[in-house]
Amino acid sequence: MSSSNAYELPPQVKLLQPTSQLKGLMTIIRSKTTSRGDFIFYADRIIRLLVEEGLNHLPVIDKAVDTPTGVQYNGLAFEGRICGVSIMRAGEAMEQGLRDCCRSVRIGKILIQRDEETHLPKLFYAKLPNDIASRYCLLLDPMLATGGSAMKAVEVLLDNGVPEDHIIFLNLIAAPEGINAFVQRFPKIKIVAGEVDAGLDENKYIVPGCGDFGCRYFGTDD
Ligand code: URA
Repeated sequence: MSSSNAYELPPQVKLLQPTSQLKGLMTIIRSKTTSRGDFIFYADRIIRLLVEEGLNHLPVIDKAVDTPTGVQYNGLAFEGRICGVSIMRAGEAMEQGLRDCCRSVRIGKILIQRDEETHLPKLFYAKLPNDIASRYCLLLDPMLATGGSAMKAVEVLLDNGVPEDHIIFLNLIAAPEGINAFVQRFPKIKIVAGEVDAGLDENKYIVPGCGDFGCRYFGTDD
């Protein structure tokens, strides 16, 4: 297991600013005594920060507007169209945060599970926007552990014509093992993460982590 202090982040990984706000939110969602209601509320706040940061990595063009004062404002506008793609089930928890920032955004879904025989990640279901090849994709999964599901999901996006450098992967907590495997395979994809943890335990859970994100968010852990 790598130590998070010694771990040098690859340049593809863009961490959220380690503000006291973020640290406080992370402290709440990581605590095992946090109620489900609080887990959802505070995880949603981090998701919102991730989405806003993810949007910062989209291409922009100059755009000037006339203000009511009669003086022009030299601003910018997003150049391309986007969509979200959530990796089921936990990634679905990030969909509302994306909709809160991008009204009526199209959202696809991908279900990947471990094949019982081969133990490798296997695609079970994918439903994506028809025109996904012409969109920038925000790939949503709260936990980047081994990277197995995320890499399979990216294969699906590439097979559907999405250029690798049009994908931005958002997660709340990432493990060095998953980051390394992911960036080695897909070096053109940016990862926007909340925090990077120490590593994985023997069950491939991120430590310290927050436990099973999907179960805590959707209330299926007891
Ligand atoms: N998925 C989770 O929900 N938690 C982990 O620690 C790893 C993967």
